[in-house]
Amino acid sequence: MSLVPLVDSKGVLTFALNNRFAVGAFNAYNLEMAQAIVEAAEEEKAPVIVQISQGALEYAPEHCYAGLVRTLAEMVSVPVVCHLDHGVSFEVVVRCLRAGFTSLMFDGSALPVKENIRLTKELVRIAHAAGIPLEGEIGKIPDAAKGPISPEEMQQFMTTPEEALEFVEETEVDALAVAVGSAHRMRVQTATLDIERIARIREKVMVPLVLHGASGVRDSSLKEAIQAGIAKINFATELNKAYTSALREKLAQDPDVVDVRKYGVLARERVKAVVKEKIRLLGASGRAKEVLEFINTLHGPKGERKSLEDEKGATVE
Ligand code: G3H
Ligand code: ZN
Repeated sequence: MSLVPLVDSKGVLTFALNNRFAVGAFNAYNLEMAQAIVEAAEEEKAPVIVQISQGALEYAPEHCYAGLVRTLAEMVSVPVVCHLDHGVSFEVVVRCLRAGFTSLMFDGSALPVKENIRLTKELVRIAHAAGIPLEGEIGKIPDAAKGPISPEEMQQFMTTPEEALEFVEETEVDALAVAVGSAHRMRVQTATLDIERIARIREKVMVPLVLHGASGVRDSSLKEAIQAGIAKINFATELNKAYTSALREKLAQDPDVVDVRKYGVLARERVKAVVKEKIRLLGASGRAKEVLEFINTLHGPKGERKSLEDEKGATVE
């Protein structure tokens, strides 16, 4: 395979949905994490999404991340997407579009539904004008780091098939994040998803569904979710855990170390191992070539990109 530039998420996720696997979307905060994610994808011959959360932009600006992910993508032969994760500010979403992100998320789940729809719709229009897909969220994925979540609360946050349909029809998002039993920032893998709910949402909406908070979800539940219609699965906490425990280990073993590369290398290797394991679990290993071929069918004879409107014609089973 020849080396490819960054791709957008539209074709990648449509292909995954049609072929019943999921693309891993992994959060990166620094060079080592981004390298680990892209290298893992290359070794697994898998498409991958490197995602940068709005929170990460307080650590480094969007241009740094966009440039970093683009450069890493151009060094490998698998399709790599640079995605904004949980953009909660209208302005930040537009800034990331301008910086060269090839996929965006607007998370208006903290807003009243009407306001979420209004802002998401406006951002979809802006993103599509630039040929970039946008993920929206309806329902609310709770945050486990804020304290224990009761089953009643979890139920209350969940996405209903009816609101998912209304949201997708009104906003024309390209992918939909749904609340189906997972929670952000869980440190143990104990959550089980509401698979029936995913299937019912899937019957109503044609766009790929996105699962957030996957670090806390049991492997068996993730596999079932993919069969029910989830096509993008987000992991952050497990990567953070792997990175940080590697640093702790190295610094404890060698208290005299001052060279940052000495522990950076170990942290990168540990994150890479986690990403490879997840890619295999999601069934994405070995799919890069087919994804690239599919993406090429979405381009015109001179290599020009067809509009996102045209892509609606791409088959979704
Ligand atoms: O948007 C990011 C993800 O939903 C990651 O969640 O940290 O619980 O794996 P996690
Ligand atoms: Zn998330």
